[in-house]
Amino acid sequence: MHLRILITAGDGIGPEVTNEAVAVLREVASLGGHTFNFEAKRIGGVAIVRDGSPLPADTLAAALNSDAVLLGAVGGNEFNSLPPDKRPEAGLLQLRAALGGFANLRPAFAFSELAVNSPLRPEIIDGADILFVRELLGGLYFGQPREWNKTTNEAWNTMRYTRDEVARVARIAFQLASKRRNKVTSVDKANVLEVSQLWRATVTEVAAEFPGVALEHQYVDAMSMHLMNQPRNYDVVLTENLFGDILSDESAVITGSLGMLPSATIGGKVNLYEPVHGSAPDIAGKGLANPLGAILTGALILRHSGGLETEAAVIEASVRKVLAQGFRTPDLARSNPQGFPVLSTTEMGAKVRETVKTMLVNA
Ligand code: NAD
Ligand code: IPM
Ligand code: MN
Repeated sequence: MHLRILITAGDGIGPEVTNEAVAVLREVASLGGHTFNFEAKRIGGVAIVRDGSPLPADTLAAALNSDAVLLGAVGGNEFNSLPPDKRPEAGLLQLRAALGGFANLRPAFAFSELAVNSPLRPEIIDGADILFVRELLGGLYFGQPREWNKTTNEAWNTMRYTRDEVARVARIAFQLASKRRNKVTSVDKANVLEVSQLWRATVTEVAAEFPGVALEHQYVDAMSMHLMNQPRNYDVVLTENLFGDILSDESAVITGSLGMLPSATIGGKVNLYEPVHGSAPDIAGKGLANPLGAILTGALILRHSGGLETEAAVIEASVRKVLAQGFRTPDLARSNPQGFPVLSTTEMGAKVRETVKTMLVNA
């Protein structure tokens, strides 16, 4: 298998975690006779400083010319006073729009080894396995008009969806549910918002194409509670852009750390892969970042862009094994009654790599 993978490591812990993901992918390539060509380009704050733009033209061109893009994270406190369209985050939103992927898959599952790290009781989270399907190109993030009018002291954003935008992401959610546990929970605010009423009506229509998949609707406020009380109740959770952003971070509580969560964005010209977490300025540059979310994101590249299901599953099994052996990064050791060894970012990456190697050699 030949894959051209563009690395846009970005800011803060982005380069630290993507280095580990790339190292794991290189191991998979060398053991399996695959050629993965990695190219690196700037995005986000580092690109604002060096190139004067959060998404330089050559980064965009390289992204469009690749088979998959792996993004670390963008953003930093020094950019916080910039308007939204000038910030590092704007580079990521422009990249998402240009690549065209509208279905952002965010799997969140409980690792029994990490149960002690969650404030939820083990019997609540044990076995939880949720796939968030977050619409990524619509809603408040992209709706026009948007403005902060400094003269009148008003600001507005527009939450806008078309029927087709809802239908296409809903179809992906139902297709994925039909290969899992046949249930879609669609999350909206249809008791208040017209956009959500369109969302609910469209999702209900699409559901008729999938008679084997059960559909339920939940309001986003209640859903944020149900997720913590009964996470095992959910299979595929389908929702619009902002609600999906918020609920997927909330689901980090089920997994034990935000640093564990991967994502893949499909449906466009080139798939985009990003861990769910951000640039974590509070821990950047200290070797404290958990690289497992980025490494699991690498597994999603192999699954969704390379068709390498076995290798993807080996990476996922290796992460589980390293956790079962007791290795932790600091975010996974907030509660550490057994005194497990706490590793740096690179040490954790090396453990996963060794395990991947052993598993692939013995496979
Ligand atoms: P964040 O996800 O960066 O961090 C939230 C908390 O989780 C912090 O305490 C951080 O230390 C911790 N954390 C996150 N990832 C971790 C990891 N891999 N290992 C250990 N701990 C981890 O969110 P924030 O602090 O709200 O945002 C910081 C910046 O990141 C902002 O500029 C924001 O816009 C940006 N951001 C970018 C992306 C992205 O590029 N995909 C995603 C989210 C946030
Ligand atoms: C995420 C992030 C991004 C989002 C930001 C950085 C634009 O929070 O990927 O979850 O809101 O989509
Ligand atoms: Mn987010």
